[in-house]
Amino acid sequence: LRVAILISGGGSNMIKLLESMRDDHPARAVLVASNDANAAGLQKAARLGVATAAIDHRPYGKDRAAFEAELLKPILAAQPDIVCLAGFMRVLTPDFVGRFAGRMLNIHPSLLPKYPGLHTHARALEAGDAEAGCTVHEVTPVLDDGPILGQARVAIAPGDTPETLAARVLVQEHRLYPAVLRRFAQGDRTPLFT
Ligand code: GRF
Repeated sequence: LRVAILISGGGSNMIKLLESMRDDHPARAVLVASNDANAAGLQKAARLGVATAAIDHRPYGKDRAAFEAELLKPILAAQPDIVCLAGFMRVLTPDFVGRFAGRMLNIHPSLLPKYPGLHTHARALEAGDAEAGCTVHEVTPVLDDGPILGQARVAIAPGDTPETLAARVLVQEHRLYPAVLRRFAQGDRTPLFT
């Protein structure tokens, strides 16, 4: 199976996904694309031999459809079976999402359905939660809302800051996403809770 990965920044999750797709894996990465030509993850992907594409969203302003029409070109050319959003920070329109219905995944740094959207760790701390974590879910037109494919939990420690909590959750993201992608690529959609 062919996997395209969309990133906006460092791409640490993308790197872990690439590293997990070795020879015994049913999927392989065919493209890493970003909305930011300076995304550090693009160079990392290129060094690992994966084709890359960058479509800067800023020239399109509020015209999401025009930005997505450009972004779709390299993605459709790569003919992915699965699209993985990994630290991709642009909201996608229902039209874009609909093109990959049932085969687009995202990782979100909270225990959905708690804390969709941004600043998830600060919100969990503010709420006095005992736990935080990350979720891999199928992408649907509603932001951070699709069927849950996996979750990993971490304890919130006294004195945690959004940064220390984010770092602890990121370690779990790096374990969870590859594990979920492997199962998903084998046609297994039973949620993985770790
Ligand atoms: C991280 O905050 C992660 O929780 C979320 O996107 C951000 C960047 O991830 N998924 P990455 O290092 O670009 O994969």
